[in-house]
Amino acid sequence: MSANEQEGAEELFPRDRQPTVRILAMPAYANPNGNIFGGWIMAQMDIAGSVVAVEYSGGRVSTVAATSMEFHKPVFVGDLVSCFAQIQKVGSTSITVKVEVFVQRAHDGRLLADKVTEAVIVYVAIGEDGKPSKLPERGPDFGRYW
Ligand SMILES: CC(C)(COP(=O)(O)OP(=O)(O)OC[C@H]1O[C@@H](n2cnc3c(N)ncnc32)[C@H](O)[C@@H]1OP(=O)(O)O)[C@@H](O)C(=O)NCCC(=O)NCCS
Repeated sequence: MSANEQEGAEELFPRDRQPTVRILAMPAYANPNGNIFGGWIMAQMDIAGSVVAVEYSGGRVSTVAATSMEFHKPVFVGDLVSCFAQIQKVGSTSITVKVEVFVQRAHDGRLLADKVTEAVIVYVAIGEDGKPSKLPERGPDFGRYW
């Protein structure tokens, strides 16, 4: 069993934030080693980041870069995967989003939690012409519940 079995592992799961994407890791997403394929996790992270970017922009966005991506721990079939996305920076046309991924893994009637992956992903607001478009200004409280 390779979940985080340390005392307080359940409490590792952030309760003060709302996950942007939650999904169960199915066998179909496994790699040849039997663990979950990193590309599938990256796709969930990109979706989570784009959700908050679209909410901020109020329009279409395109992923332009993943400026960092770290896989700390493996994800296993059956893990409950939660992606927490939070806007780090808003530029003229770009939105930089930090995405953290936690798993919850059933063990002895408890859900043990662990942080498995994190990334910083940059989105660009796109206009009708497919070119970068200027972002609106939002108040400082925008997205504070993410
Ligand atoms: C997104 C796209 C329209 C942006 O066009 P562009 O000519 O590169 O845009 P710009 O150079 O004007 O940059 C736009 C913003 O993105 C930021 N940016 C561009 N490349 C970046 C990079 N590699 N890392 C971080 N930020 C970047 C710029 O700093 C700028 O931010 P700001 O306006 O807030 O200052 C274009 O790059 C594109 O179509 N890329 C493909 C996107 C795509 O298909 N994504 C899906 C991948 S599967």
